Amino acid sequence: MIPLAVPNLTGRESEYLQQCIETTFVSSVGPFITRFEKMVAEAAGDSLAVATSTGTTGLHAALVAVGVGQNDLVLLPSFTFIASANAIAYCGASPWLLDVTEESWTLDPVLLAKQLATETNQKNDRLIHKATGRRVAAVMPVYTLGMPADMDAITKIANDYNLPVVADGAAALGATYKKYSSGKLGADLTVYSFNGNKIVTAGGGGAVVGENPELMELVRHLTTTAKVEETYHHDRVGFNYRMTNIAAAVGCAQMERLKEFVGVKRKIQKLYNEVLENLPGVSIFPQPDWAEGTRWLSGIIMANVESAEILRCKLKENSIDARPFWKPIHLQPMFINSPATAQPVSSEIWSRIVTLPCSTGLKESEQTKVIETIRNSSRE
Ligand SMILES: Cc1ncc(COP(=O)(O)O)c(C=O)c1O
Repeated sequence: MIPLAVPNLTGRESEYLQQCIETTFVSSVGPFITRFEKMVAEAAGDSLAVATSTGTTGLHAALVAVGVGQNDLVLLPSFTFIASANAIAYCGASPWLLDVTEESWTLDPVLLAKQLATETNQKNDRLIHKATGRRVAAVMPVYTLGMPADMDAITKIANDYNLPVVADGAAALGATYKKYSSGKLGADLTVYSFNGNKIVTAGGGGAVVGENPELMELVRHLTTTAKVEETYHHDRVGFNYRMTNIAAAVGCAQMERLKEFVGVKRKIQKLYNEVLENLPGVSIFPQPDWAEGTRWLSGIIMANVESAEILRCKLKENSIDARPFWKPIHLQPMFINSPATAQPVSSEIWSRIVTLPCSTGLKESEQTKVIETIRNSSRE
């Protein structure tokens, strides 16, 4: 089987893991964690970073840090992985689901401005969602597949309403927006994932990045059980969300190759785009002119649900892993009653997407086989 996206662990991973064993630093303190945080902070754009156990726990801690709490609403594009919405739910809050634009698959800033202008009002310094009476507490843009959202527009709107911004940049480490690194786009906090299928992995892991030292200290505090110094005093209900030194050891070895891996991902997607975009019934992933994404996952968009399913089957028959894509949040049973705008883009595209093999170790001959199988399927 040619897999969809598997980790590439051919660097110094074993050497660094061996060091963890020899030094007995295997848990949530250790030199690799400090090193990993520095590497992530630098790659995100000279910010500060706190490593977490997963991207999801990083998102949860970030939302708590900016003040999201019980019964609040957080503006979120529906076209995202379930973890973005789950992190909001862990706060006792709900997502307020907006659609994405067709040109970028990221949060639509025009819709954001319109919704805030027409669906909210200000009451005693609180922004209230008129239909539900709930406080609107934050905006969470998602850098879909590693493509930054239109952050100049989004942060301007958020500032107008005094709303903090937590960016779900899960797969966007290495991406740029108007030449700025993905952690420097005006969000108060940006969260990355280092899950096994990401461009660089720590086995499992996340990182929260930001520039405000006090806010970052709060994130660190929250993820470390809100412990006060070395006494067993804890000043609030915190979380055990820290990354382990073992995970960070893998993460450091991977971060050494971030640029190389992002380059390979972009090359893989470019080739798919060049040879497949003129096939009838096939279109390619969007490329807004404001950003250069990481191209975390490669894929194509088929003309309809049926042709997407037929292609996936054809690829499977040829031992090629090809998968469906995220079912949007407004269609998930837990969030079906969350406030939501109409979702013409999310509802229409998700089921037509076919993701294609794009591991950084993908051989040329393997990509050729994928392309030929798609061509044959198209002819049939
Ligand atoms: C958009 C998005 N947000 C959040 C996450 C959650 O990250 P993790 O799996 O590290 O918890 C992912 C992971 O795939 C993701 O793609």
